[in-house]
Amino acid sequence: MHKVLILGGASAIAQATARLFASEGASLFLTDLREERLKMVADDLKVRGAAKVEYLAVDANDLERHEETLQAADAALGGLDAALIAYGTLPDQRACEQSWELTQREFSTNGLSLLSYLRLLGNYFETKRAGCIAAISSVAGDRGRQSNYTYGAAKGAVAIYLGGLRHHLYKSGVKVVTIKPGFVDTPMTAAYKKGLLWAKPEAVARSIYRAMRRGKGVIYVPWFWWFIMLIIRNLPDCIFNRTKL
Ligand SMILES: NC(=O)c1ccc[n+]([C@@H]2O[C@H](COP(=O)([O-])OP(=O)(O)OC[C@H]3O[C@@H](n4cnc5c(N)ncnc54)[C@H](OP(=O)(O)O)[C@@H]3O)[C@@H](O)[C@H]2O)c1
Repeated sequence: MHKVLILGGASAIAQATARLFASEGASLFLTDLREERLKMVADDLKVRGAAKVEYLAVDANDLERHEETLQAADAALGGLDAALIAYGTLPDQRACEQSWELTQREFSTNGLSLLSYLRLLGNYFETKRAGCIAAISSVAGDRGRQSNYTYGAAKGAVAIYLGGLRHHLYKSGVKVVTIKPGFVDTPMTAAYKKGLLWAKPEAVARSIYRAMRRGKGVIYVPWFWWFIMLIIRNLPDCIFNRTKL
């Protein structure tokens, strides 16, 4: 994996993952919202061994720019071996309940915009009959919970889409990786009290890097979230609805 596109390349989890690709001399193309942060991340990755780092500031909700973004990445790196989608926002669920506009924007950022990128990436790698597409969903997508069901609905949609894309691309040899982190200590969760279940972005990044290299299907990171979500998914409504999850 020598030519890697990372959409949301300035996110904490993406930065930690990009460093692992940089350490093996990969070339990277990063996108995110703010150009000055992308520049800082790119400079850091070059020091860490990346052969080349190019970047483009683009709002993921600007769907009309998706095609041109992928073309820019393809041209800058001379083709792509892999792509990772790692941007996102964590909406205030109670605020979403009060505003359709906010609900729609959050669903677009965390769901619809990824479907747009994934459609284009699927077609791109299908033509090449090789490559790896990875995207960060969340354990929140496994079951709607009162605390974050707008975010969960978007992440769940992404996970279902990735499953279908993996099924579709199987015959082309293209790997599609669904990443489902639990709680990760990043700027996104800065306001949350941390505890035993929390992981550092570097640990999550190692799992993402390994899964992309091995072309795994679905990963829970850290692994114990697989068991936690198995229980949460299977709790009967009569018990689940009484919890504060
Ligand atoms: N942290 C967790 O506990 C956790 C758990 C499960 C899944 N995840 C997922 O992991 C991924 C990475 O999150 P993180 O925790 O590393 O968060 P992070 O460090 O806060 O990064 C999120 C990134 O997304 C960018 N972004 C936000 N809206 C965007 C838009 N419309 N277009 C383009 N970029 C946009 C942000 O840019 P600005 O900073 O400029 O706004 C930021 O660089 C996300 O998909 C998140 O949902 C995180």
